[in-house]
Amino acid sequence: MLKKAFLLVISVSLNFVFLYGCNKSTNDLTPSSGTATTSTTTTTSSTYNDLWIPPTITGKTFDLTLAKSSKQLRTGAKTATYGYNGTEFWGPTLIMNKGDFVQMNVTNNLSETTTTHWHGFHIPAIMDGGPHQMIEPNTTWKPSFEIKNNAGTYWYHPHLHEKTFQQLTYGAGGLIIIKDPIESALALPRTYGTDDIPLVLTSRRYNSDNSFTTTEHAYGDYAMSNGTHNAQISLPKQFVRFRILNAETERAYNLGFSDNRSFYVITNDGGLLDAPVEVTRVKLAVGERAEILVDLSKDAVSTSLDMKAYNANQEFGFGGSEPQTNGQFGSLLNNKDFTVLHINVKAATVNAITSLPAKLTTNIYWKESDATSTRTIRITGGQAGSAFTFDNNTYGFTTINQTVKLNAVEKWTIVNNNIFGHSFHIHDIQFKIVSRSSGAIANYESGWKDTFYIRTGETVSVVAKYDDFASSTNPFMYHCHFPNHEDAGLMGQFLVIQ
Ligand code: C2O
Ligand code: CU
Repeated sequence: MLKKAFLLVISVSLNFVFLYGCNKSTNDLTPSSGTATTSTTTTTSSTYNDLWIPPTITGKTFDLTLAKSSKQLRTGAKTATYGYNGTEFWGPTLIMNKGDFVQMNVTNNLSETTTTHWHGFHIPAIMDGGPHQMIEPNTTWKPSFEIKNNAGTYWYHPHLHEKTFQQLTYGAGGLIIIKDPIESALALPRTYGTDDIPLVLTSRRYNSDNSFTTTEHAYGDYAMSNGTHNAQISLPKQFVRFRILNAETERAYNLGFSDNRSFYVITNDGGLLDAPVEVTRVKLAVGERAEILVDLSKDAVSTSLDMKAYNANQEFGFGGSEPQTNGQFGSLLNNKDFTVLHINVKAATVNAITSLPAKLTTNIYWKESDATSTRTIRITGGQAGSAFTFDNNTYGFTTINQTVKLNAVEKWTIVNNNIFGHSFHIHDIQFKIVSRSSGAIANYESGWKDTFYIRTGETVSVVAKYDDFASSTNPFMYHCHFPNHEDAGLMGQFLVIQ
C-alpha cells in the first residue's frame, strides 16, 4: 500500500480493462502444449500443471549464475524471466550442512547489476549480499562463510536497492535447506521432491504480451507455486513435509487444507520448534518460512485435496485483504480463498513416515528480561504522496541508523502506524518474538524468527543476541520485506561494533 503515483493507478486500471475486460477464462493459464499433465489418475484434471521442483545443489561449493530466461506460463508468447543456472524461473535449491565452510560463486550474466542475499544466515555483513555487495554484469562474487544456522529452510534473493522488486518479479531467487545432526536424527520426511516438498508461493500479473507487469503494484492476479500456475502434485499416502516460503510482493497467506484437516508446523524461519504445533491455519507474511507436516496416510489413493490460501475476510492491513480487483492495490485474488496446490494422493513409498515425532529439539530462547539494551523503530510515512519510512528517515546507502555492540542482547520494538500491515526483517540474527500488542503470540510463530508480520496499529518486540560478527564499516539491513516498500525506502542499516 504505497500511497503514491495516482497516475499509475489510472494507467494500471486502463491496462486492466484492456487486458482482462474481454477474454478471461482460467484456461488462459494452461500452457498450449508440453507441460499440461498427462497423468491418468481419476482425480487429475488437465487444467492443472505439474508443480515444478527446483533442482538441487549439494556440497560445499555452490556455483550460481543469474541470467535472463523465459517460461511458457500462458497461452501464446513465453514470458521473459530471470533464473539461476539455466532454470526458466527461480533457481536451484542449495543443500548445505551446519558447520561446513561453504564457497559461493555467484556470476551475474544479466545486463544489470544484482546482489545475492542469503536470507536468514548468520554471517559477516560483507558476505551478506545486501545492497552493498553489488555484482556487476559479467562478474562473479565469491563470498565464503561458515554455516552457523540451525537446520531449516532459508532462501537467497537479489537485494539491490531500488531493483529488488523488479528482479524478484522476474523470478530471481531460490531456496536453501540447511541440515544438522539434530534434525537428521528425527524421523521426518526428507526425500526431496517425494515427501519433502519445496513450495514457494507468489503470484503474478501480466501485460497483454504475456510479460510480467513490473510497474508498481502490490499483488499478482494469478497464484504461482514454484513458478507454476494451477499447480498440482501427486504425493504418497504418508506424512509429507512442505517447506513453504512466502515470496510475494505484499500478499500474506492464511494457509490450510480444503477439508480443514489439522497439520503440524515443525519449523519457523530459523529452525525446528521444540515440538510440532498442531494448527488448521498458518499465516505467512512475505519472507517468512514454515515447514509443515501433513498426514496423508488416511487418504485413499486417487483422492485429492487442495492446499489453499484462506484469504477471504482477513483484517484490514493483511496483504491481499483489499476488496478491489484491479488497480495498484487490487487483484483478482484479493479477499478470496484460492488454491495454491492441488494434491493427488498416490501409494505410500517404502520407508514412509507414518507418525509424528512428539519432540523435535530443545531451544533456549531469549526472554524479554535477557535484553541488555532496547531500541524502538517506528514505521512512519505512507500518507498520500509519501513512501513509508523508518523513524521518518528514508533509506540512505551511507547512513547508519542503529549501532549495536557486539554480543549485546537487544530488544527491538517495532511500532507500526495505522496505515497497513508490513513484514519486518532483520539481517544477521535470529530473534524470538517476545510481545505483540495485539494479543498473544501464535504458537506457530514461537520459534526462531528473522521476519514477522506486523499488523496495522501493532507494536511487536523481538529479542536477539548480536554475536560473532562485528564491523565498523559494513552494515547489516533491517527492512520491510515487501520488495516495493524496501525499494521505496522502508529500510535501515545497523552496524555491529566491538
Ligand atoms: Cu530477504 Cu533483506 O532480505
Ligand atoms: Cu512494508
